[in-house]
Amino acid sequence: MTETSVITVDGPAGSGKGTVAHQVAAELGWHILDSGALYRLVAHQAIQKKVALDDEKKLAELARNLDVVFVAGEEGESIILLEGEDVTYAIRTEECGGVASQVAVYPLVREALLDRQRDFLQEPGLVADGRDMGTVVFPGALVKVYLTASARVRAERRQRQLKEQGVDVKVSGLVRDIESRDARDCGRRSAPLKAAEDAIVIDTDSLSIDEVVDQVLSVVKARL
Ligand code: DC
Repeated sequence: MTETSVITVDGPAGSGKGTVAHQVAAELGWHILDSGALYRLVAHQAIQKKVALDDEKKLAELARNLDVVFVAGEEGESIILLEGEDVTYAIRTEECGGVASQVAVYPLVREALLDRQRDFLQEPGLVADGRDMGTVVFPGALVKVYLTASARVRAERRQRQLKEQGVDVKVSGLVRDIESRDARDCGRRSAPLKAAEDAIVIDTDSLSIDEVVDQVLSVVKARL
């Protein structure tokens, strides 16, 4: 399989890339790679196994040896089993996202996850979301999308999501978390978050998910 059957969706935390990637994949009947989940899994294991967050070699070892399977749930959702344990929700916490962003700065960790990410490319195609899908992991992708949104709008989206889960948090704290995660993801030397030169950049501040999905699908259909 070649990268001409890949659509990449990159962007910062809360830009809507996960939801957009899932809907585009469902529409096309293609596979999905949630690359952030892999970094979150390394973070989860580092926390559980008390691996120091500045120990690049040990973190890379965790990344290389991740015993993980993604299985489709009854409604098509991904269930993530780590060493046989369902960690689908455990890795979605703010803490795990923050630690994921810290382990993701290390080149050895990124390298250890590279082939695992590329293995997701199977017939008939793949929609991959993350930070470096279009720049590093699938540079030859058919369509590259980069989603942006202001920190405020992304924090409000996250607040709504948390509220649905019964968790009440202030937007101001979420804005701070998002800004520090952005700074780390964009500022790191290895595969920083940025739009690929040939990416289509979509500002989602005033767009609904459906509108973004429609834009992406119309570009994909024109190129297929
Ligand atoms: O997309 P997410 O919020 O689940 O990702 C969590 C962290 O993982 C993110 O802050 C940075 C890191 N990450 C990365 O460095 N490269 C990717 N392709 C995906 C995620």
